[in-house]
Amino acid sequence: MRIRQRPRRLRKDASIRALVRENHVDASDLIQPLFVIDGTGKTEAIDSMPGVERLTIDKICEKGQNLLELGIRAVALFPCVESSLKDAEGSESLNPQNLVIRSIRALKSCCPELSVIADVALDPYTTHGHDGILNPEGTRVMNDRTVETLAVMARILAEAGVDWVAPSDMMDGRIGAIRDGLDDAGLVNTSILSYAVKYASAYYGPFRDAVGSARSAGTRLLDKSTYQMDPANRREAIRESILDVEQGADALMVKPAGPYLDIIREVRNATHLPLAAYQVSGEYAQIHAAAKMGWLDLIKTRDESLLAIKRAGADMILTYFAESYASGLSQTG
Ligand code: PBG
Repeated sequence: MRIRQRPRRLRKDASIRALVRENHVDASDLIQPLFVIDGTGKTEAIDSMPGVERLTIDKICEKGQNLLELGIRAVALFPCVESSLKDAEGSESLNPQNLVIRSIRALKSCCPELSVIADVALDPYTTHGHDGILNPEGTRVMNDRTVETLAVMARILAEAGVDWVAPSDMMDGRIGAIRDGLDDAGLVNTSILSYAVKYASAYYGPFRDAVGSARSAGTRLLDKSTYQMDPANRREAIRESILDVEQGADALMVKPAGPYLDIIREVRNATHLPLAAYQVSGEYAQIHAAAKMGWLDLIKTRDESLLAIKRAGADMILTYFAESYASGLSQTG
């Protein structure tokens, strides 16, 4: 038989496969999300996220050092705020001594070279678990009032030394308002990583357990579909991305990642900013759960899931697998 094109020649052995491999996931592509709690010397397991713990600030600093040694250069901080500090307007978000602010200061002094990202959204601080301030009837998140608060919140985070503020609230106009607020305060070097394309996803369930926003809402199925995007929409993702580019975002994010690889590719092709993708808590949990049942290989599935996100066009990946992935790399050299 005469077959001139034999793609299998390039798969013949591991060396050839390595030479022609088009995409790689390096530790420096990964961002480790970290959950912070108040106190010292404490860690708390999170049932729906095996291997992920809530950490006190001292433990966050140890973690930061470990991550740097593994080649991971960035973390995203999520505070788990005590319920006594929550109210309907999320006012604790504006307290310049709050948990996340103290974590930023601590991390920037113990690991100055670690790039620190902080979410800008009210959900860790509100009794109802929504990302913004509700109207008097309690039926909708008010856009413009929320944006005003977010701009102040972002400024306080930036004053504490955070490298990136990452608005994850999906209010209209927040990127411009945050940029103006930062610039007016002379904080021109604080970057904005915009959760530009964030879907109203069922995959956030375990995260809401982790930060306790599900508990505040009294249900795991907190409906955010009046502000987060409809999973059915693709064109709208490009529209949201372009709006954030125009308003001054430094980098964009698509979230979740694995179920939205087509969107990652679309945004990659439609804009020139660096692109992040967030492999969210539910994506992590489902791989772990299947592995625990013996139905999937944990490490191979983890690696393939990350590679797929990279191949789709993400420059950086927020993933709860960051540390375990990077330790695997350092073991195998
Ligand atoms: C809050 C926020 C969420 C996540 C990151 N920031 C949850 C939500 O929108 O309810 C989800 C992360 C994850 O599931 O891992 N604004």
